[in-house]
Amino acid sequence: MTTPTPIHPFTWNDTLSTGVPMIDAHHKELIAAVNDLGVAIAENKGATAIKKLFAFLKFYAEWHFEHEEACAAKHQCAIADVNQKAHATFIATFGHLHDRYKASDASEAVALEIYQQLADWLVSHILKIDTNIGRCIRSAAQV
Ligand SMILES: [Fe+2]
Repeated sequence: MTTPTPIHPFTWNDTLSTGVPMIDAHHKELIAAVNDLGVAIAENKGATAIKKLFAFLKFYAEWHFEHEEACAAKHQCAIADVNQKAHATFIATFGHLHDRYKASDASEAVALEIYQQLADWLVSHILKIDTNIGRCIRSAAQV
């Protein structure tokens, strides 16, 4: 048995807020899923958690990405295209990681890599793109 990996849970903070309650609620769901995976990995239970995570991500990509993309398109946000491409890259990247995980015979190291990439993507994507989408949606709503 390997030593449990210390993982600090994500906490929501205002810098992550898009100012659009529905989008923030979706992001909080993803943060919760990432945290669940982090806890499972720390307890060497990554294998079960990864299955659950990928089931969630498949649903999340349809549910949240489509909602956010539709809002950005509706409000003609300048960054809508960039957001859509980032989502497509996310789906491709995590598809490859899922394949690697399955081929690895449920490696805890690959599970940890998935967790880290997901955590990095989440923060960077929300800060660089989704907060921008949020500003666009909010300013359009005030017109
Ligand atoms: Fe996004």
